[in-house]
Amino acid sequence: MPKVTIVGAGNVGASAAHIIASKGLADIVLIDVAEGLPQGKALDMMHMRAIEGFPVRVSGTNDYADTAGSDIVVITAGIARKPGMTREDLLGVNAQIMSKVVSQAVAASPAAVYICVTNPLDIMTHLAYRESGLPACRLMGMGGVLDSSRLSFAVCEKLGCDPRDVVAWALGAHGEGMVCWPRFTTVAGTPLTELLDEEQIAQVVERTVKGGAEVVSHLKTGSAYYAPGASIARMVEAIVRDTHELQSVCAYLDGAYGIHDLYMNVPVRLGAGGVEEVVEFDLTEEELASLQASAASVRAGLAGLTGLLGDKA
Ligand code: LAC
Repeated sequence: MPKVTIVGAGNVGASAAHIIASKGLADIVLIDVAEGLPQGKALDMMHMRAIEGFPVRVSGTNDYADTAGSDIVVITAGIARKPGMTREDLLGVNAQIMSKVVSQAVAASPAAVYICVTNPLDIMTHLAYRESGLPACRLMGMGGVLDSSRLSFAVCEKLGCDPRDVVAWALGAHGEGMVCWPRFTTVAGTPLTELLDEEQIAQVVERTVKGGAEVVSHLKTGSAYYAPGASIARMVEAIVRDTHELQSVCAYLDGAYGIHDLYMNVPVRLGAGGVEEVVEFDLTEEELASLQASAASVRAGLAGLTGLLGDKA
């Protein structure tokens, strides 16, 4: 049975653990600095086993020794946004947490595939890449799967269609700079551009980009976790089952789409080794320009990180 470590036993980490366990994908180790939190949530999930019938074990710990030899490590540790905050407002605190977590996790599981979830996502993933020394194919971030799922939701709400008929592509920054590709977003094979007019598409895109903030505005005390948890589980599934499927993943770009040395959501092929390939869609000039503008917004955030951490970043 594959072993998946989830760092951070908060709402996102626990939701991911629940879904990974329910799908029977891997044994799960939940680790957190808070004593008792991962142990309690893990035990609670083990108490579900008889009801849900999943064949995997979930355990909780505060010690990285228990995470040793993981096949996948998911990093959700960090603080979440409150109403009125952007993901970028979390940069300072979460950069410190991410640095600490990465060094300890990589020491215990040097051969694992890493999925970063901590916000601001694109910047934290880049930081983890620099600090870990891991090859880029084994270190990625979860943002695009969630954003694409929110795009699918917005499309379904607008057209009254079934999510199973929708293939949705949201890419670029996991933030205000997010890009949606209506021409590649299809309902039963028909592009969104043939189903909705420009204004309707703009509404669907706006609902997608603001989806995370819409949840925060309802919850008031934190950010989304069910859909982020499901998105993590979807990526874990592609890796442990070596499916080679295309997903929107925060991956390292070294020339694809004309973008260099930057982490951002792009279509990638996911499999056992992690990111097998960054897939370049055939874009119009306008689509390419919007993706590159999104890259510029991530680069501005990275400059903020360098300011905070100095040479370390
Ligand atoms: C969201 C947070 C998790 O998009 O980034 O809900």
